[in-house]
Amino acid sequence: MMIKHETLLVLDFGSQVTQLIARRVRELGVFAEILPYDAPLELLRSHAPKGIILSGGPSSIYDEGAPRLAPEVLDWCLGGERPVLGICYGMFVMVDGLGGKVRPATEREFGHAMITVDQAKGPMAEIASDGPTQVGHQEPVWMSHGDEVESLPPGFETVAHSRSCAHAAIYSGSKAGSETRATGAASGGMWGVQFHPEVTHTRRGTALLGQFLDLCGFSRDWSMGVFVEEAVARIREQVGDTGTVLCGLSGGVDSSVAAALVERAIGERLHCIFVDNGLLRKAERQQVEAMFAGRLHNPLVVADAGAQFLAQLAGVTDPEVKRKRIGATFIEVFDEHAHALGGADFLVQGTLYPDVIESVSARGPSATIKTHHNVGGLPERMKMGVVEPLRELFKDEVRKLGVHLGLPEAMVWRHPFPGPGLAVRVLGEVTEARCAVLREADAIIIDEVVKAGLYRDLWQVFGVLLPVQSVGVMGDARTYENALAVRAVQSVDAMTADWAHLPYELLGTISNRIINEVRGINRVCYDISSKPPATIEWE
Ligand code: XMP
Repeated sequence: MMIKHETLLVLDFGSQVTQLIARRVRELGVFAEILPYDAPLELLRSHAPKGIILSGGPSSIYDEGAPRLAPEVLDWCLGGERPVLGICYGMFVMVDGLGGKVRPATEREFGHAMITVDQAKGPMAEIASDGPTQVGHQEPVWMSHGDEVESLPPGFETVAHSRSCAHAAIYSGSKAGSETRATGAASGGMWGVQFHPEVTHTRRGTALLGQFLDLCGFSRDWSMGVFVEEAVARIREQVGDTGTVLCGLSGGVDSSVAAALVERAIGERLHCIFVDNGLLRKAERQQVEAMFAGRLHNPLVVADAGAQFLAQLAGVTDPEVKRKRIGATFIEVFDEHAHALGGADFLVQGTLYPDVIESVSARGPSATIKTHHNVGGLPERMKMGVVEPLRELFKDEVRKLGVHLGLPEAMVWRHPFPGPGLAVRVLGEVTEARCAVLREADAIIIDEVVKAGLYRDLWQVFGVLLPVQSVGVMGDARTYENALAVRAVQSVDAMTADWAHLPYELLGTISNRIINEVRGINRVCYDISSKPPATIEWE
C-alpha cells in the first residue's frame, strides 16, 4: 500500500508566488501539494486534504477567461468539510462562490501596507507578535489588491481592514456550501486575506499560516526523516522485489541526492554510472568518486569517455550542434556501460517539483518544463521505467535531504553545472587544451569566491573562455593571448538572474591570480549582463 502523508492542497490560480505558499507550509512541517485550479475533482479528492489554500492569481475575477472553479469543485472545496484559506484572488473565489460580492477596487494598493485589526478572530486571532491581539492593533503586510470584497457571504465577518480596503481579512467559523448541507459534515472554518501571508514582507505571515494549519488539525510531522521513510517505501514498491535500477550520476546535487536515496531503498540493485566526458571542472571526477566511495553497494562505474566526446566536438563551433553531439554521445556511452552491467528495469531521474507542477502561473505551462533535457529519450530508447524520487521536492529541500542522507555539505551546496559542461563555456571550438586553460581559471574563481565567503550567496559563478585574443605585456615580452570572462549571478530559479555585485577587491584578486597563474590568459573581464535579455551561460 502506498504510504501517504497528511496533505494540504494548494489550488493554484496563477499567482507568481504560489510555490512560496507550498514552501512555507512545508517549512511548518506539513506536506503541501500544488494543483491547478482546473484539476479534476477525483484528483483533488484522491489527496484527501485536511485543508485547502486557494492561491492568489494575476487576473481580476471579472477578466474574460479568469480562472473559475468548476461547480462540483467549488462545492467540494467550500462545502465546509475542511478549513479553507483564500489568499487575494483565492478569497474572491471564496466570497463569490458562497454568495458574497466582489468588485473592482476604487483605489488599488500594491506592496507594503498596514492592516488594522477589527476583531481578534480567525486569521487575526494571533496576528500580534507580542501577546494577545488587541482590536486596533496595526500589522505590516504585503498587499496586492485590484478587486475588493463588496459584501460578505452569509456567516462571514470582517476581522481587519486597511486604508484602502474595507475587508482585508475575513472569517467564518460556520458551515457553508451545499455539500455540507447534504452530508452534515463537521464545520471547517473559512479564512480570507487580501494580503499575501506567504511573502516575507508580511511580518506575521508564517505565524498566520501556522495557525491555519492548526485549525486544519495537522500533526505537523512532515520532516526530512518522514520524507525519506516514505520515499524509500515508494521506491521499493515501484521497483518491486527484483527490479534493477540504473543511475547516471553527474556530480550535481540532484542526481547525487537521488542516487543516495535509491541506494537506501534497494542497495545492491542500484548501479551508478558516472560519465567523464572530458568537459568537467577541475577535480570533479575525483570529488564524485570520493563522495560515493564506500557509500554504494556496487562500485561506481566510471566511463572514461573524454576522448570520445572531444572527437565529436572537433571543428564544431555552433552551440546547438555542440549540445546535440554531446547529448547523442552521452546516450551512446551510457547505453554501452548499462549493457555491460546487464541492463536494468528502471532509470533514476533527478526531476524536481518545480519541473512537475502544472503551473497556471504567468510563466505558462511550457516555460516550467526544463529546456535542457540532456538525456531526453534515454529511458524510451533503453525501454526502462523511470524512478523520480525527488519529484515532490524543491531545490532547497533536496539540499536538506542530501545533508540528512549524509552527503558532504560542500557537494550539497554546489552550484548548478550544465550537462554539456565546459563545452558551452569554451566559446568556439572545444579542444582539450582550451578546456585545460578554462579549468584552471575556473578553479581560481571558485577558490577565491569560497574564501570570500560568497559562494552560497551566488546561484552560479564561473569562467567563460572567449574566442578572442588580445595584446598584453608580461615582463619585457609582448603577449597575444586569450581573454576570459568571469560570470557571477544571483537567481532563485535560473529563469531570471541578476549579475552579482562582487566586491572590486575580490574581482581584482581573481583577475591577478588568473593572469599570473594560468598560461594562455592575459585579460579578464567581468560580465555585467542580467537575464533577460542575456542568459546565464554564454552559449
Ligand atoms: P541559461 O544559460 O539558459 O541557463 O540562462 C539556465 C540554467 O541552466 C543551465 N544550463 C544548462 N543545463 N544543460 C543543462 O543541464 C544545458 O545545456 C544547459 N544550458 C544552460 C545553466 O547553467 C543555468 O543554471
